[in-house]
Amino acid sequence: MIGRGAIALVAALLGAQGLAAQADSGSGGGGGGASRTTLLVRAGRLLAVRTGAMLTNQAILIDGDRIKEVGPADAVAGHAPKDARVIDLRSATVLPGLIDCHTHITSDPGDYYKQLFRMSPIDEAVRAHIYAKRTLDAGFTTVRNVGAGEFIDVALRNAINEGAVPGPRMLVSTMPLSATGGHGDVNGMSPYLRFDGFTGIANGVDQLRAKIRFEVKYGADLIKVLASAGVLSEEESVGAPQYSQEELNAIVEEAAMWGRKVAAHAHGAEAIKRAVKAGVASIEHGSLIDDEGIRLMKERGTYLVADIYNDDYIVAEYTRLGFPQKIIDKERLVGRQQRENFKRAVQAGVKIAYGTDAGVYPHGWNAKQFAHMVRWGTTPLQAIQAATVNAADLLGWADRVGALEPGKFADVIAVTGDPLQDVTLLEHVGFVMKGGQVVKDSLTGGAKAAR
Ligand code: ARG
Repeated sequence: MIGRGAIALVAALLGAQGLAAQADSGSGGGGGGASRTTLLVRAGRLLAVRTGAMLTNQAILIDGDRIKEVGPADAVAGHAPKDARVIDLRSATVLPGLIDCHTHITSDPGDYYKQLFRMSPIDEAVRAHIYAKRTLDAGFTTVRNVGAGEFIDVALRNAINEGAVPGPRMLVSTMPLSATGGHGDVNGMSPYLRFDGFTGIANGVDQLRAKIRFEVKYGADLIKVLASAGVLSEEESVGAPQYSQEELNAIVEEAAMWGRKVAAHAHGAEAIKRAVKAGVASIEHGSLIDDEGIRLMKERGTYLVADIYNDDYIVAEYTRLGFPQKIIDKERLVGRQQRENFKRAVQAGVKIAYGTDAGVYPHGWNAKQFAHMVRWGTTPLQAIQAATVNAADLLGWADRVGALEPGKFADVIAVTGDPLQDVTLLEHVGFVMKGGQVVKDSLTGGAKAAR
């Protein structure tokens, strides 16, 4: 009887939702053609991220949330309707919104003991929207979030998509798959201490397949697997593999069946190679990669997403935050090597996508990694491409983000000065638009009604 009652209730709710949806589409609001705003963004300089050409005196015509046309200012302005609002960025450099492919947007660095024992996932959920806003304000209009507890990432993504809270477009992985005792487990505690809640812990092919189905069912856009040990966890060695080749193969196959890509956290050389052979889309961290790993990644077209900024922050702050010495020692072991190996991978021509592990350091600082990438082997343009076209390709969103091109979302940022000369200018993004909506503007003094 209870079951039937519940079904009736669900049916009633669905019915009500159906009516609401009809009312929405009938009102002509939001998606309706007539009420859509047209914007003309005038750009003193515009970086064509594919070619690296710094074009002058350009304009972007925006219809609703999409880019309609990009080109020389006069030509594009000639195609704009008379009532188009003009955004004057003639004294700035305009770029596509940036993409961070490795964030943990639901958590911020904090006291080790407090975060582990005094805070719950509810605390995390309550605060996550603040970090989303900081990320967006920093010019990162899209992120791939690769690990959060309790489906908080799914809830945040949905709230942002519905316009309930401001934040970047998000692809989310939910809980990273982890071996028992692995990087995603809570290690070093008494066996009598338990942390309740959903986890990504799964061992063996059958459990892994079931876990992937569960995560996809409740909203995962991609699958994150912890293929090796980690730094900010209490297991002993940082590079040790934590899944077998057979397990990794099954993960990639199962994820693909559900149309999902796999991102593999892997610091150690062996884990990197196993994950690449299994066919993951990206290696996260990649700290101890060897020549064979580099060769395999090139051969397979696997992206390297190396978080080479955050060592600065961990070394400077994590002792004060009460992290165990074991963890600090692991960071000191991999930090420098990761940067040197990143440089080798860049020089070998491995595909690079921008990912910072934001959450390990404060959200909104996402752009600090650009300067490190340039110091460790990329050109400024390559670093920007990593955070735009390459990132979009890795996400499977090349059709919608990562470049200022007709048909793509109007995700537009601007800085003063030339980021190809000084990439640190991207740490001070003065103008941010997401989907045709201005979310931050300290550059123009506001949109003008007429031209
Ligand atoms: N989440 C990563 C881990 O715990 C952070 C690694 C940070 N260190 C670094 N050198 N990238 O393994």
